[in-house]
Amino acid sequence: ALIYIVTPTYTRPSQKVDLTTRLSHAFQLAQGIHWIVVEDSDHKTTLVANLLSRTGLPYTHLHIPTPGHMKRQPHEKPWAKPRGVLQRNEGLRWLREELQSSNNLDGFLYFADDDNGYDLELFDEIRIIKRVGVWPVAFVGEVMVEKPLLKDGKIVGWDVAIKPEREFAVDMAGFAVSVKLLMDHPEAKFDFDQPPGYQETYFLKGLGLKKEDMEPKAKNCTQVLVWHTKTKEPVLIQEKILNRKGKHTDEGMEV
Ligand code: UGA
Ligand code: MN
Repeated sequence: ALIYIVTPTYTRPSQKVDLTTRLSHAFQLAQGIHWIVVEDSDHKTTLVANLLSRTGLPYTHLHIPTPGHMKRQPHEKPWAKPRGVLQRNEGLRWLREELQSSNNLDGFLYFADDDNGYDLELFDEIRIIKRVGVWPVAFVGEVMVEKPLLKDGKIVGWDVAIKPEREFAVDMAGFAVSVKLLMDHPEAKFDFDQPPGYQETYFLKGLGLKKEDMEPKAKNCTQVLVWHTKTKEPVLIQEKILNRKGKHTDEGMEV
């Protein structure tokens, strides 16, 4: 069974190294992955097209821009506006169309943001999901690890510091679903107008899920297989000074 992985991505200095070394190398080793990369852009960039064709992975390259008024401004709080919403929905649109015509509902869907770190064993856990799997995510929600709370092997709540009252207090990186479930709920998607932190809950509720449906993975949610890392912006002060004088150190090169 294939794992369809949807990755929103946007142009920035670390985009190529993140997509290549954090994601594509892991996906190549994991095997059986179809990578759906959705650029937050009004066109498909050659940088992303080039790196995708080099991966040797089966992939789909899409794009959809986030309008300016939906983008977080520098003065706004990190959680003021959700990111990647239109891109994940565009990935879902393509995937549903693909599954419709392929007639093969034996597969999984996972949302992999473009700067997290993924352990290969995560993909083995995804392949044994029946409908929906959940597991811990490190370095998210301002704690070392956010994780589901278990009682007698069942998920009864969430060990998180921020908004524990959410029905599904799980990061985007902390769950995957079967594509059959996705096709049974054609309306399930993400929505810009949800309160901060509620994208995952909104999507999972759209799939008609309840806490009791969640299948704990990663050794009953005791193992960390994904890290919500963030790549530090490189310091480019000298580059900007040079640019003003007409010099670009990366002229004729793709970084
Ligand atoms: C956290 C969550 O882990 C994300 O799933 C959630 O989308 C995000 O917050 C949010 O604020 O909505 P965080 O590391 O803060 O993640 O966010 P980013 O990694 O910067 O962005 C999430 C995804 O959206 C990434 O794959 C990124 O490439 C993409 N993105 C970001 C865009 O497509 N466009 C943008 O303008 C910014
Ligand atoms: Mn991130």
